[in-house]
Amino acid sequence: MVLCTSFADDLVHLTQEPDSPPVRLFTEDELRRYDGSEDGQPIYMAIKGVVFDVTEGKEFYGKAAPYNSLVGRDSTRAVAKMSLDPADLTADTAGLTADQLRSLEGVFEGTYKTKYPVVGYTAARLLNPDGSPNKHFKPERQPQLRTRDEF
Ligand code: HEM
Repeated sequence: MVLCTSFADDLVHLTQEPDSPPVRLFTEDELRRYDGSEDGQPIYMAIKGVVFDVTEGKEFYGKAAPYNSLVGRDSTRAVAKMSLDPADLTADTAGLTADQLRSLEGVFEGTYKTKYPVVGYTAARLLNPDGSPNKHFKPERQPQLRTRDEF
């Protein structure tokens, strides 16, 4: 596995099938660059620490489109609550109800994972809250989509 960070070598030794593509790790700042503000640039959005290329959904996510505030960041909480309140534009899931978590899972699996290619992960997915490596991390499988290899 190749991790695209300078500290990855010391930090994360994750097992993966030998021929699987490298995993890209996005910092918050990197993700913010893909916020749809420039026409013609890719648009990325994370849910549950998984970064999706939502460029195909420009009519939802592009500049001045209705869900533009969700992109260029991890919007897990907003999607779980179906809210565009700026306070919900975060990866924080604290205090979400069981119904909201179920809804989040439905949209994650049923919309994003089936419709948009995964292009990487945020630290929230690769690391535990204490910064130790998440040994249970596995790249998402999307057999129905051609995964884009950026390397
Ligand atoms: C009056 C309120 C709303 C209406 C009428 C509405 C309408 C819609 C419609 C018609 C779609 C499906 C489009 C399609 O698949 O072709 C959609 C998708 C979606 N909506 Fe809403 N929506 C509303 C509010 C919200 C809010 C508050 C959120 C906050 C997160 C939200 C998040 C989404 C997301 C994430 C999708 C999936 C987009 C995709 O396929 O990439 N919606 N909405």
